Amino acid sequence: MRFAAGRIVRNEGHGEIFYRLEASLPEPVEFDPGQFAMVSGWPGNDPLLPRPLAIFRAGQGTKGKGTVEFVYKVVGRGTALLSGLHPGDPLSLTLPLGRGFDLGKDGRRYWLVGGGVGFATVFPAAAMLARRRAEYEMFLGSRTRDQLPPKEWTPGGSAAGRVHRCTEDGTAGSFGRVTDIVKERMAVLTEAEASRLTILACGPREMLKEIARAAASLGAGMQAALENHMACGFGVCWGCVVALREGEKTGYRRVCREGPVFDAREVVW
Ligand SMILES: Cc1cc2nc3c(=O)[nH]c(=O)nc-3n(C[C@H](O)[C@H](O)[C@H](O)COP(=O)(O)OP(=O)(O)OC[C@H]3O[C@@H](n4cnc5c(N)ncnc54)[C@H](O)[C@@H]3O)c2cc1C
Ligand code: FES
Repeated sequence: MRFAAGRIVRNEGHGEIFYRLEASLPEPVEFDPGQFAMVSGWPGNDPLLPRPLAIFRAGQGTKGKGTVEFVYKVVGRGTALLSGLHPGDPLSLTLPLGRGFDLGKDGRRYWLVGGGVGFATVFPAAAMLARRRAEYEMFLGSRTRDQLPPKEWTPGGSAAGRVHRCTEDGTAGSFGRVTDIVKERMAVLTEAEASRLTILACGPREMLKEIARAAASLGAGMQAALENHMACGFGVCWGCVVALREGEKTGYRRVCREGPVFDAREVVW
């Protein structure tokens, strides 16, 4: 983890729903899919706290510098202020933070599930799995067509049957909630197929909870990326805790430090 003084390269709105922000960094940064950054850049100190955003991409810039990208949805004051920043404006970053997805096991089959802007957290995992030629499919859901990510952002190409898009109003992809579509697919898995499956998911808590229940009942693995409210972002304030099952007891873990990705079977939903 380190503090970096970045500078915005681009910060573009897509359909006035999502913004994609790229910043240059003094040095390149490496990250695991699912890790995040605390980001601020607005003038003054209101809001005081930076906002957590999943690292969408990171790479090499020119002259030994680095680049980092985020995708965010405007939901309140911090993200609205972020959306008003321009190329050349400074951006304060602490990154990479937390523990990302565990993609270490060979021979697994992965389903990546992104509900709403949750795709921003699972896309980097898809990019890594595609590079490894691992077996994966992606399920992306939103309320309506405009809230699905643009197709050109989807990593790993569009091999037939790999990316399943759905909307709750049926305006794009299949009609329905991503939760139901994932559960329908799960219902036809054999026991052997389910035991080889790992679901990587990010999205609304209810979505995660329902999919976690279904995965547990079939014996499939699931890693859930949680998006709790955060204050410090690096383990000091305990403002972001989640309850986890630890044998007979319940323990509390910091989403920013021990997470944001947790074994879904351990989370007290
Ligand atoms: C580890 C992590 C990674 C994240 N990655 C992304 C990302 O890549 N892209 C993205 O768009 N968002 C992401 N988020 C959520 C993002 O941090 C919040 O949307 C943001 O902090 C809201 O700030 P705000 O000042 O705009 O809204 P606020 O004024 O703080 O809140 C506005 C509204 O949004 C709700 N809200 C605030 N924070 C959250 C949250 N964490 N989850 C759900 N609802 C919230 C509030 O309850 C309120 O209703 C992530 C969160 C975490 C913890
Ligand atoms: S946000 Fe401070 S400990 Fe997690």
